[in-house]
Amino acid sequence: MVHTPTEVMSDGAAPLLLTPLKIRSLTLRNRIVASPMCQYESQDGAPGDWQLVNFGKFAVGGAALVFGEETAIEAAGRKSYACAGLWNDSHIASYRRITDFIKAQGASPGVQLGHAGGRGSCHDAEHDWRRLTDEDAHAGMKPWECLVPSALPAQGAWPKVRVMDASDIRAHLQCWRDATLRALDAGYEVLEIHGAHGYLIHQFLSPVMNHRTDGYGGSREARMRMALEIAETVRRAWPATLPLFFRVSAVDGKGGAWGIEDTVALACALRERGVDVVDCSSGGISGDSSMPIVRRVPGYQVEFAAQVRRQANIATMAVGLITRANQAEQILREGRADLVALARELIWDPNWPARAARELMGEDGYQLLPESQSNRLIRREVVARLPVNSGIGVASAADDELAQRI
Ligand SMILES: Cc1cc2nc3c(=O)[nH]c(=O)nc-3n(C[C@H](O)[C@H](O)[C@H](O)COP(=O)(O)O)c2cc1C
Repeated sequence: MVHTPTEVMSDGAAPLLLTPLKIRSLTLRNRIVASPMCQYESQDGAPGDWQLVNFGKFAVGGAALVFGEETAIEAAGRKSYACAGLWNDSHIASYRRITDFIKAQGASPGVQLGHAGGRGSCHDAEHDWRRLTDEDAHAGMKPWECLVPSALPAQGAWPKVRVMDASDIRAHLQCWRDATLRALDAGYEVLEIHGAHGYLIHQFLSPVMNHRTDGYGGSREARMRMALEIAETVRRAWPATLPLFFRVSAVDGKGGAWGIEDTVALACALRERGVDVVDCSSGGISGDSSMPIVRRVPGYQVEFAAQVRRQANIATMAVGLITRANQAEQILREGRADLVALARELIWDPNWPARAARELMGEDGYQLLPESQSNRLIRREVVARLPVNSGIGVASAADDELAQRI
């Protein structure tokens, strides 16, 4: 089944940002996505109260699709002992608590599955992802052997690595399949494969990291093989009714070798394998070529999403310093992406979607107010009578009175 980008509406009516989007059988209530964000707060892979509240508040704030954090398909696929994972059936219940809450707010929960490859066996973020050493074993954090496509001299600072052979690859695909089934069981409605940021899939894609001479290295097609086999494996296990996303690093990073034309080729191949949305990030692998750094200016990765959408004829998600409602609306209106994802701005303001709705739609935007009895009352009793931008509870004496009661 081939999926084409959603049509950009030209009627000038409701803001596109707040218009529902149907992908396969799932309808997202708007086009605002909480981008995946690692928390380093998991216990043996399982999320707890922090994740429930942290991700739950993005659903309360009005986002349509709320991703959690990069979630490892196997224990050795984590970056650190504090990272999240879905390698065991015992994890499922702890995620279901989160997905139930997100769904109850009218949003869809998304899981980002991934494998750190050679970037594993580290301390957590607070300790700058320093490599674990044998010393750390005394504190219960034994370094582990990391899977890599190739052992490179440049990986001198890496932990003990294991170059994946054919049986490792078979076992790896089985881990993807099992984690996908667990994600479904946990109640997720969207699954994203993390193919970006210098982790295992990206390590296979980029010639900087992949020096294999078997069918998984060499030509671009061969370097793409791991990503495509993972996409096929996940698509087979994930229901045909539910959307599958794939996050790419559209370009490697400073001095890298994987460029946007490679990403377009990958996106075409992913589309043929039933991937619905390409989430366009960048960076994570660097080398000594003349590839420039991607400067962090507002909307710094939007052009990648636009190019992939145009040239690979697949829906895309734009991410990276998208912070203003009008900016997000313009990205969609210009047909540069189908969804916009926010990370840091949502940390500052989890109610950003509700605020964007008010900015773009005036009083009608109150439909995105966080879901609760009192807010439903505000919508029903007050909003209908509020002049645009008047603010809640000051429109009239009756509204004042209501404000006292709630
Ligand atoms: C705290 C934090 C954690 C992140 N963790 C992940 C992650 O788990 N997976 C991922 O693909 N990107 C991760 N990112 C990157 C974001 O998803 C996003 O692509 C990036 O921050 C750019 O968007 P922004 O400018 O809206 O923050 C993380 C970003 C932040 C700020």
